[in-house]
Amino acid sequence: MIQFKRNRRLRVSPAMRHLVQENQVTPKDFIYPLFIEEGSQSRTPIGALPGQFRLTLDLLADEAKEIAALGIPAVLLFVKVPDELKDNQGKEALNPNGLMQRAIREIKSAAPELLVMTDVALDPYSIYGHDGIVEQGQVQNDATIEVLGQMGLSHAQAGADVLAPSDMMDGRIAKIRQSLETQGYSDTGIMSYSAKYASAYYGPFREALDSAPVDEKGIPKDKSTYQMDSANVKEALRETQMDIDEGADIVMVKPGMPYLDIVRSLATQIHTPIAVYQVSGEYAMLKAAAEKGWLNHDEVMLEQLLAFKRAGASMIATYHAKDASRLLG
Ligand code: PBG
Repeated sequence: MIQFKRNRRLRVSPAMRHLVQENQVTPKDFIYPLFIEEGSQSRTPIGALPGQFRLTLDLLADEAKEIAALGIPAVLLFVKVPDELKDNQGKEALNPNGLMQRAIREIKSAAPELLVMTDVALDPYSIYGHDGIVEQGQVQNDATIEVLGQMGLSHAQAGADVLAPSDMMDGRIAKIRQSLETQGYSDTGIMSYSAKYASAYYGPFREALDSAPVDEKGIPKDKSTYQMDSANVKEALRETQMDIDEGADIVMVKPGMPYLDIVRSLATQIHTPIAVYQVSGEYAMLKAAAEKGWLNHDEVMLEQLLAFKRAGASMIATYHAKDASRLLG
C-alpha cells in the first residue's frame, strides 16, 4: 500500500523542523527571582537551591546589569527580613527605607531597562511566616489587604514597575489597584498570583527566606486556608477571573510543571497574559537528579521551559533563567 501521509517528512532536517516549530522559548520569556539580604559584599548560597544566592544590596547593581545583558526582561524581588524586624502586622513592609524599597532603587538605577517586579505579601515580615495578620490562630483577610494596599504603594513609590501579590487574600488586587490609582501610579502593573496552590514544592524557598509558617506555639502549619487545594481546577478559574475583574494586568499559575493543566485551561478561557512560576522545589528536583547523573540537566531544563510555553504561558518565573538564557544565546 502506498503511504500518502508521512509525518516524518516534516522532521527530515533541522531547517524543516525549525519551519514547523509551533512554540519557542527565549530569554525574553523569563522573569528571574532574586533573593536579597542585609549586609555587605556577601552572596549566601541557598541550601536546597544550588546555584542560587541571597545577595546583599551592594552586589545588586552588577547582578542587574548581568541579567539585563543576558536579554532577560524582568526580575522578581524577595527579601530576607532580619528577625528583630518581624512582627504580626507587617510594619517593616511599609518602611520607605526597608530592604525591599532600597533594593528596588538600587536595581532601577543600575539597569533602568530591567523591569522590577516585587513580591507583595507579609510572610517574610511575619513572626508566624504567614501571608497575613494572625488573630486567634486565623489569618485575617480584611485587615491584611489594608496593609497590602499600602505595601504595594510603597514599592511603587520606590520605583517598582510591577507588583506581584502572592498572598491569596480575597480582594487584595482591588485594594492595591485603588491605592495605586488614587496616588498617581496608574502605570504600575499588577501581576497577580491568582492560581496559587498550597504546595509542598515551596520548601526550599521558605528555607531561603526563613519563612516557614508556624502557629502561635511555633508548631508547623500549612497555608491551606488561603492557598488553593491541589485537587481543584474550577477554583483556579474563579480566582483568576476575580483578579482580572479587580484589575490584574497579568495572572499567574504556581507551581508550574505539576499544574500545566491549569495553565492550559486558563489559556483557553481568559484573554489576559499568563505567567507561570516554576517554583523552588521543581528546580531542586532537577538539580538533585542531575547531580546523581540520572538526568541531563540542560536538556531537561529546556524541555521543561518549552512545556510552559506550549501549555499557554506568556512568561516564566524561573531560577533557571540565567543558565537557560546562556544556553539559548
Ligand atoms: C510567599 C511566596 C512563596 C513563594 C513565592 N512567594 C512561598 C509561600 O507561599 O509559602 C514560593 C516560591 C518558590 O517556592 O519558589 N508569599
